[in-house]
Amino acid sequence: MLKIESSEDQEYMKLKGLIKKNLGFNSEQYKDSHFKRRIDVRMRATGSKNFGEYVQYLNAHKDEYQQLMDTLTVNVTNFFRNSETYEVVEKEVLPAIIKSKSTGLRNIRIWSAGCSIGVEAYSIAILLHKILGNNFSRYNIQITGTDIDIDIIKRAEDAMYSEVEMKEVPADIRTKYFDHDGERYHLKAEIKKVAKFRRNDLISGEKLTGFDAIFCRNVTIYFEKQLQERLYMDFYNGLNKDGFFVMGKTETLIGPSKDLFKAFNPRERIYQK
Ligand SMILES: C[S@@+](CC[C@H](N)C(=O)[O-])C[C@H]1O[C@@H](n2cnc3c(N)ncnc32)[C@H](O)[C@@H]1O
Repeated sequence: MLKIESSEDQEYMKLKGLIKKNLGFNSEQYKDSHFKRRIDVRMRATGSKNFGEYVQYLNAHKDEYQQLMDTLTVNVTNFFRNSETYEVVEKEVLPAIIKSKSTGLRNIRIWSAGCSIGVEAYSIAILLHKILGNNFSRYNIQITGTDIDIDIIKRAEDAMYSEVEMKEVPADIRTKYFDHDGERYHLKAEIKKVAKFRRNDLISGEKLTGFDAIFCRNVTIYFEKQLQERLYMDFYNGLNKDGFFVMGKTETLIGPSKDLFKAFNPRERIYQK
């Protein structure tokens, strides 16, 4: 049956086209419900009553695009988010990776996909330092953080954090790994230097490979099922033998990779190649 599109549908399509063109954000792959909810936040903030009015607002106020990007990407995160997952990472995942590097080149490569302000990458770096102690500098540790949002990448590189972003950081780690200027927490250079950040769109960007662990948490939840399945396969292929895939606590492994990965700790959504 032919579906008649309302003018509101047409304005929504127009808006999606503008978002793709001006922000490089391919909305087709995101859940429509998520996308509309996020746009609604900006529509209310700008006093736009419908998609058409919001398109007009965007055309007249080009700086609104960045506000919209911030709202669409949902950058909310904090150090050691879901600390129970990090406990398993500290006690089991990282020691297994370190053990596998006891001979030969001591390269440890970890990817934080959808890294937001970098706290996932740095939480892993801190744990590696905690485990390795004086041996930390004897390993060639490379943690790669990628995100679609270029502004958030700059914040990751600055490595300066607010109290809210530090809320799950235990006191001893705060003291040892951060300098506090009264307002913000500055991550120490020794930890900062092992993480590098860059823009990469998980949907259309370069496929990264050669990792001992991939963390992709609280990112795919916004994506359509088909895309989730494809990305989980990409992550499987991006891992070295025995590499680990760590998902978000509310995410579920689906698609062909489910049969390929071993369930390492399903409660914490940790899988192994
Ligand atoms: C809620 S944050 C998750 C941060 C961190 N992984 C965590 O679990 O706390 C989601 C991040 O995914 C990023 N993101 C959304 N779509 C993306 C895409 N297509 N490619 C790469 N990153 C994306 C957003 O910009 C945002 O920074």
